[in-house]
Amino acid sequence: MSDAPEISPEAVDAAVAAALDAITAAGTTGDLKTARAAHGGEGSTLAQLNAQLRSVPNERKAEFGKLVGQARGRVAQALAAREEELAAAETAARLEAERVDITALASHARVGARHPLTLLQDQIGDIFVGMGWEIAEGPELEHEWFNFDALNFDVDHPARQMQDTFFVDPVDRHLVLRTHTSPVQVRSMLERDLPIYVICPGRVYRTDEFDATHLPVFSQFEGLVIDKGITMAHLKGTLDHVARQLFGPEAKTRFRANFFPFTEPSAELDLWHPTFKGGARWIEWGGCGMVNPNVLRAAGIDPEEYSGFAFGMGIERTLMFRSDVKDMRDMAEGDVRFSEQFGMVV
Ligand code: PHE
Repeated sequence: MSDAPEISPEAVDAAVAAALDAITAAGTTGDLKTARAAHGGEGSTLAQLNAQLRSVPNERKAEFGKLVGQARGRVAQALAAREEELAAAETAARLEAERVDITALASHARVGARHPLTLLQDQIGDIFVGMGWEIAEGPELEHEWFNFDALNFDVDHPARQMQDTFFVDPVDRHLVLRTHTSPVQVRSMLERDLPIYVICPGRVYRTDEFDATHLPVFSQFEGLVIDKGITMAHLKGTLDHVARQLFGPEAKTRFRANFFPFTEPSAELDLWHPTFKGGARWIEWGGCGMVNPNVLRAAGIDPEEYSGFAFGMGIERTLMFRSDVKDMRDMAEGDVRFSEQFGMVV
């Protein structure tokens, strides 16, 4: 700059102060480049003051030389420091701007819901566990003996016929897809110590249609009690309790005489559903009765000493009239929108 002031300590200080101001004010590396050109470069005031050293009288050359040298050093240092600061800030800003949030949920990963049948099955299990019962399990591919013979079914009982039962090839192995959860009664009696208080929820199979009120694969829960002095009053009291737990304090049950090969006497079980959508009413709920002495004998239990009761209900049916589901097929098709209506309980 041709209009540079004449060299003096004041002029050097003023040039340094102007340089430091410009450096501090630079907000980007671009600004700093401009500041460096103006205050640290060839045409800068300090460079021009430096050039004037030639005309300084010899005896003051060292003094002025040092002054200008230190001034240029300070400015260079300030430039370097600011440069580092700005570069770090810009890197941080870029990293922030380009940040990928790997903790965020991908928008397509929807949270599912437990199936309402599973929820109801667990709820039923909890009611019995609350009474001190145990949960029992059995295989879905069952031996014909457990599914029919041990349960006192005649060899020519119609339920054995092809139209009701899925027999599994080869037929001479006598394997069936269990048609009810009652074989677990027999398995429980053979495997457990007396007394027995078990509930067995599980899947069963019948050659039924797939329509609004039938599924060829559905679920039941089977209850079995074997103890000394068990009467039908215990059965009734237990079922009334379960009805109230599931359908509210007004709910109750009633028995209608019926026949099952494995219970004697046997009853069709109706539920008084106080909050049914179309108005309180009796609804057919399942079957029950006192365990037939022949069944006790088949499991090696003395019917003179022990007696017991059993019952079985369909879980899909229960869900249908408990939650006003119109079409059973909705329970089989697995559309999450159906499940979501029952809440997201996990
Ligand atoms: N197993 C019978 C059915 O599936 C129901 C039942 C269970 C009846 C226990 C009496 C006792 O129809």
